Amino acid sequence: MTYPPFTPRVFSGIQPSGGLTLGNYLGAIKRFVNMQNADFETIYCIVDLHAITVWQNPKELTHNTRELCAGFIASGLDPKKSILINQSHVPEHTQLAWVFNCIARVGWMQRMTQFKDKAGKNAQKASLGLFCYPALMAADILIYHATHVPVGEDQKQHLELTRDIAIKFNHDYKIDFFPITEPVIEGTATKVMSLRDGTKKMSKSDPSDLSRINLTDDAETIAKKIRKAKTDSDALPSEPAGMKDRPEAQNLVNIYSALSDQPVETVLRDFGGRQFSDFKPALSELAVSVISPISKEMTNLMSDSAEIDRILTYGAEQAREITEPIMKKTYEITGMIARAR
Ligand code: TYM
Repeated sequence: MTYPPFTPRVFSGIQPSGGLTLGNYLGAIKRFVNMQNADFETIYCIVDLHAITVWQNPKELTHNTRELCAGFIASGLDPKKSILINQSHVPEHTQLAWVFNCIARVGWMQRMTQFKDKAGKNAQKASLGLFCYPALMAADILIYHATHVPVGEDQKQHLELTRDIAIKFNHDYKIDFFPITEPVIEGTATKVMSLRDGTKKMSKSDPSDLSRINLTDDAETIAKKIRKAKTDSDALPSEPAGMKDRPEAQNLVNIYSALSDQPVETVLRDFGGRQFSDFKPALSELAVSVISPISKEMTNLMSDSAEIDRILTYGAEQAREITEPIMKKTYEITGMIARAR
């Protein structure tokens, strides 16, 4: 168990709610891989318990959980370098979530914009799980005493709440036990936008499949989606300032920049003054060169589901070496009696 000063430890998670988008890849997984190679201890989680806050068909959830694990590995996450887990395999996540439900305030949860977006007009009919979801997310992170959490921009508010929960727990129990986590929201792809509307986030739940690129799309589909992507009629500017008020142009350039690991300035130096009819084929070629190998490897890995289950079981065993002592200590701090031996 780590105590202050906390050693750097990275944690992040993705919901297996069906289909991985280019937004998930660039905003999260690609960055997970970079952090894995940078000397941090890294833990990455498939958050199946989060997924059921909205209805999931059980067979599809099983499939999507394995497919997400395949997506992690195909993108470069290595089960020997990172701990890869499925959330429901590590019961301490939900145990700590209950304690945090008793720390977090109803008013804090009511401010969460993601709850408002997902529950929509009919919030009374949303599941209780959807409402208290951010306390489980805080528990996911803090049950590892994780210090750094790479995410896309849409998760920022949840991470602020995670900090508030840690601060209140430490304050209420007068102990410096949980770290105050740093969100890591960096790079040009922290908010990849819809290909149909540059003001909306690219999302797996958008009714239009043309709005997103899925990691399982074949080369032809990727090219078609980029060809049909909404743009304006001007040429690309030579400098970032020229993309102000041009959300679709900005989005495609950001995607190119993130896929090619080049700054936006370099992309615009190469493409400034050229039309989208030139830029789109170049972007398609680049996207296919990155996504196709991942998609092929995902299909390969999915042909051996027993191996995926073994990898996740191994991850859970490693994870519990960290989570069990932290949970035990949390109960001790809160005054719960330990079982007699
Ligand atoms: P989820 O499953 O919606 O998304 C997973 C990750 O992908 C990022 N992301 C994007 N990034 C850039 N552009 C986009 N269009 C885009 N769409 C999604 C998200 O920001 C996220 O990083 N609540 C989380 C899962 C979670 C979690 C955690 C994350 C549960 N526990 C603990 C971090 C730590 C979620 O629903 O992500």
